[in-house]
Amino acid sequence: MAKNVRIGILGGGGILGAHAPGFMKLRDRCAVVAVAEPNAARHARVRELLGDDVRLYGDYREVLALDDVDAVDILLPHSLHMPAAIAAAEAGKPVLTEKVMARNVYECDRMIEACERAGVSLTVCHDRRYHGHWMALKEVVDSGCLGEVFYWKLDHNQDVLLPEGHWIRSHDALGGGAIMSCLTHQIDALRWYGGEVASVTAMTKVLPERMEGETLGVIAARMASGALAQLSINWFTRPRSPEHALWYEMVQACGTRGEAYTMSGRGTFLRLHDDSDADSVARWGREALKGFVPVPSGRWGGHERCIAEWVKSLRGEEAQITTGGRAVRGTVEVAEAAYLSEHGGRTVTLPITPVPRGEAR
Ligand SMILES: NC(=O)c1ccc[n+]([C@@H]2O[C@H](COP(=O)([O-])OP(=O)(O)OC[C@H]3O[C@@H](n4cnc5c(N)ncnc54)[C@H](O)[C@@H]3O)[C@@H](O)[C@H]2O)c1
Repeated sequence: MAKNVRIGILGGGGILGAHAPGFMKLRDRCAVVAVAEPNAARHARVRELLGDDVRLYGDYREVLALDDVDAVDILLPHSLHMPAAIAAAEAGKPVLTEKVMARNVYECDRMIEACERAGVSLTVCHDRRYHGHWMALKEVVDSGCLGEVFYWKLDHNQDVLLPEGHWIRSHDALGGGAIMSCLTHQIDALRWYGGEVASVTAMTKVLPERMEGETLGVIAARMASGALAQLSINWFTRPRSPEHALWYEMVQACGTRGEAYTMSGRGTFLRLHDDSDADSVARWGREALKGFVPVPSGRWGGHERCIAEWVKSLRGEEAQITTGGRAVRGTVEVAEAAYLSEHGGRTVTLPITPVPRGEAR
């Protein structure tokens, strides 16, 4: 791999706004040389974000054919993640793909297979795993100070309404609805913090005037550890102002010796129930016995850090990649199991059998 890694970006839509600054901060280590974006109305913004030298193409396959692109970052609609990742692997280019990895586990497996066959890496940009606040909660949980964590609660609320014809409104392009698209942030975090999910029971609600897939989803999960988890997504909540902050993401962990939470925009907080664990009291401070205290966390954003680690890995440097394809596949599996639960009106035990989209189990 060239020392100054040459990157091609596939898709120049909304999320490029989070990826481009990450690459621009690393200009001495990598260069985004090409972007594939068929919508010409978006080209001016692409140049604004990445500079005038970036070459623009109309389709992702044109960028995959370029000899001076070493690795690609996939920012495409979900239905294109698998075909683009397979084509990239066949072209010998390591892949970073935005979440969700793909529309189901079958597609994840094809991506993993293709990248392993070609000997290129496959990384999923599940940005929360790289965000300072979310990493602080991971540190708290892994320190053991919460004792046995018996309950997890994870919420994701926002207002997602795209114009008629946008791929996010299509069940097929999205791979479902809000659960597959965005509750996968929480599912992925739950698996990262609390280990694997053993079974799920789910309910969803479609609001057909907004999109084909579900706008609302609720999952009750039993963890392999025995803990219970509750996850919810609401893609139709309006208030965004701080004083009426229903537009948020939250992860809460309750354990036998303490509890902790991360709330978007606020940070990560911890309290200890008692002083029986002297090491935890020494580490987090006696104030944590009286009430929630802020946990020190890095101020970096998840996309930026994920990109920085990915670029390190491309350069052969030591990198903290926690979201390889094999690690993240299970996140898609939990979301798919939630759909099976809703459709069958039953609890679904994992693992599930991978089948191509549209094929009966
Ligand atoms: N991590 C997050 O918080 C977050 C937030 C938003 C989106 N995302 C993810 O980012 C990805 C992209 O979402 P988005 O919001 O940017 O969508 P978007 O619709 O804004 O952008 C997708 C772009 O892909 C382009 N495209 C379509 N077909 C193409 C082709 N054949 N070749 C090249 N480009 C093509 C479209 O023209 C569009 O501009 C999705 O995986 C989504 O889930 C993640």
